[in-house]
Amino acid sequence: MRHFLWLIDYSKKEIKEIIDLAFIIKKETKARIFKPYLKNYQLAMIFEKSSTRTRVSFEVGINQLGGNGIFLSSRDIQLGRGEPIKDTARVISSMVDMVMIRTFGQERLAEFAKYSKVPVINGLTDLCHPVQLLADLMTMIEFKKFDFENPKKTTVAYIGDGNNMANSWVILASKLGFNLNIATPKGYEIDEFIKEKALEFSKESKAEIKFLHDPREAVKNADVVTTDTWVSMGQEDEKEKRIKDFQGFQVDKELMSLAKKDAIFLHCLPAYRGYEVSEDVFEEHAKEIFQEAENRLHAQKGLMVWLAKWQNR
Ligand code: CP
Ligand code: NVA
Repeated sequence: MRHFLWLIDYSKKEIKEIIDLAFIIKKETKARIFKPYLKNYQLAMIFEKSSTRTRVSFEVGINQLGGNGIFLSSRDIQLGRGEPIKDTARVISSMVDMVMIRTFGQERLAEFAKYSKVPVINGLTDLCHPVQLLADLMTMIEFKKFDFENPKKTTVAYIGDGNNMANSWVILASKLGFNLNIATPKGYEIDEFIKEKALEFSKESKAEIKFLHDPREAVKNADVVTTDTWVSMGQEDEKEKRIKDFQGFQVDKELMSLAKKDAIFLHCLPAYRGYEVSEDVFEEHAKEIFQEAENRLHAQKGLMVWLAKWQNR
């Protein structure tokens, strides 16, 4: 049995298998062919933080695959009142076939997985957001013809907070071997453990990952420019300070003009215009951004079907 807790556990070959499956299922879905790959599967979806895309895409996804999604907000279940995560894991996993969790610390997710009898999927933690990266990868393939065989042809620039999204880009690049320039303000760098891991994986993949503090240097020659909110869920108290510290890191027209002429712009959403991205850049690239959002549905269907193959049932 496999879990999907972070991309660290996944090889390039496995990531490609999931993406290939996602494209097959996307094509079928677009033709309104809904094959019951996961007939009667029950997916529990535990949310300790808010969500629009993750909730809708997992719930619609499992339904389209012939299964059923159960939305569990920590506000409503005993977990939110202090029932231990390991007890919650043993109970829920005795009744369902797969679990998706959005939570705070990565260790909460790991603890759940340790006690779970069924595959557990990371629906975002403070450390990483791997399902989002599957959708982003699909979008890079669609718009920029990202090639697993020639990853060096693609350069991605991530501008902003060294958060769960940034960490996930770093691991994806190090696994697949594309070039990645990360520009964060001082004091908001990538997690050290993630950096170490990336260095280790890059030895094999030959990924070139640059950790910078200058957004202008980072976007040079970029095929893909991406960013994320300056204030992630759980950081609301730091909002004022963060807005000050992130001045100069907005992806605006001028910054985009330094990337390749045909560069695309991605954003995992929700986006805060006037902060990490300007209104005009956002609207000019709405096509890519909303295809990226839709790809959450297809990517996660591919992932769930892939994970189910490993289950002894
Ligand atoms: N990108 C993303 O995960 O969005 P939600 O927070 O709406 O799920
Ligand atoms: N970094 C953001 C991503 C939201 C999808 C957060 O954690 O709030």
